[in-house]
Amino acid sequence: MVKPVVRVLDTTLRDGEQMPGLAFNSEQKLEIAMALDDLGVDIIEAGSAIISEGERDALKKLSRARLDAEICSFARGVKADIDAALECGVDSVHLVLPTSDLHLRYKLRKSRSQLKETAAEMARYALDHGLKVELSAEDGTRTAPSFLKEFFSVGVEEGVHRLCVCDTVGVMTPERMQELFLDLTRTFKLPIAVHCHNDFGLATANTLAAVRGGAQEVHVTVNGLGERAGNASLEEVVLSLHHFYKVGTNVDLKKLYRVSRLVERLAGLPIPPNKAVVGENAFSHESGIHTHGVLKHPLTYEPISPEVVGQRRKFVFGKHVGTSAIRNELRQMGLKPSEEQVKEIFNQVKRLGDRGKLVTDAEWRAIVDSVMGRSFEEILKLKELTVVSGNKITPTASVRLLVHEKEFTDSGVGVGPVDATINAIRKIVEGMSNIRLQEYHVDAISGGTDAMVNVVVKLTDGKRIITARGASGDIIMASVQAMLNGVNRLLWDKRLKGNAKRKI
Ligand code: KIV
Ligand code: ZN
Repeated sequence: MVKPVVRVLDTTLRDGEQMPGLAFNSEQKLEIAMALDDLGVDIIEAGSAIISEGERDALKKLSRARLDAEICSFARGVKADIDAALECGVDSVHLVLPTSDLHLRYKLRKSRSQLKETAAEMARYALDHGLKVELSAEDGTRTAPSFLKEFFSVGVEEGVHRLCVCDTVGVMTPERMQELFLDLTRTFKLPIAVHCHNDFGLATANTLAAVRGGAQEVHVTVNGLGERAGNASLEEVVLSLHHFYKVGTNVDLKKLYRVSRLVERLAGLPIPPNKAVVGENAFSHESGIHTHGVLKHPLTYEPISPEVVGQRRKFVFGKHVGTSAIRNELRQMGLKPSEEQVKEIFNQVKRLGDRGKLVTDAEWRAIVDSVMGRSFEEILKLKELTVVSGNKITPTASVRLLVHEKEFTDSGVGVGPVDATINAIRKIVEGMSNIRLQEYHVDAISGGTDAMVNVVVKLTDGKRIITARGASGDIIMASVQAMLNGVNRLLWDKRLKGNAKRKI
């Protein structure tokens, strides 16, 4: 049993949102905050109240939402920032002042003693108005340690609740971080937080090192979102604390994947497949050697069970596939193939894989059906597609689909012709089933304007997820093919199970 000892401040909605091009609206912030609260995060830094009307609206919504987590606003050492936070009814402020000589000289144009005066005055002001205060040293890791202590002492004298050291440009190493925290935690009785950036890819390691040195709070963001290379990632930090150091947090590890996907969707920033813990490939296996090992004993090629973080194990088929994975998958599908059939499926998967492709679910099923002599019927067929686009009109698509000789027509608009076409198809499909498009990827197989385009979609009917491909010299047709291939597969599976919707 791992005891919760380290508190988690999640700053996805403040520092994470500072990622170029990212902005959550207040509904999205509320949805993410509720998920973070349910996950067990202790403090949510939800924004900076001074920023805008929308930001204040979000902070007000979160403050009224009666979450268990403390709702915190970022504030510079400026009265107006604290007043704005007060107006929003937050529980606390993350009061941030830069402490390095570099920042003092070039950004703030203040002396060290002026900075200490400001820190004291602002901390007092916030405390007098009933706010909890976490006093942060921005660029703290490039600040002379003696001055860092002087700065923190000012806060301690005023009665702030917590201190925080920021590795603002991610220049620490784990050894130096641990030493710094050992020194600071020997000097101060208050909880000290660590706030790391990932410029050298060391944000998680440095955060863990700070905890080894006595840090009692970690600042993190979901999926490591944040400026430049991002912040320490929530999922990596809490899992590592738990797994390697037996240091607990209040975070429910099983919910990590779900929250990560929610933030991915609302941020519109796809998680790289190889992202630790929450990436699509974190528990996927393709190579024959690995799948064989995992099937015999999962720990051979997995450090932890995927279920620990709410993920699931996936076997992906491509050119490295082995026969054990194929046999296993066929068994899962309730099939009893002969050895020749396994061999033939294996050869076909290899051939597709050799062309540099991962085999999508729909392609896998088509191979299995043809080798095993199983039937498959395309339920949805494209009858007609018209797309209009140009510099003066909204891209619009009109689609006519045949479903068992019955025609369904709809139209869609979008940011471009592909989007409009997908939207039109979506309308028809969503009108007759609960299939939803989850992901859409496109890449060109060759260079040039006549390139072969490869579109892969991920669709779900709520119970199953299926990937499907379309390939064509025309990106619109490739997209249509991918959508129809995936939808047809899902519908056919449902039909086989005998619970297809009547309309279909
Ligand atoms: O990285 C940093 O220094 C920060 C502070 C402004 C808190 O995000
Ligand atoms: Zn930061």
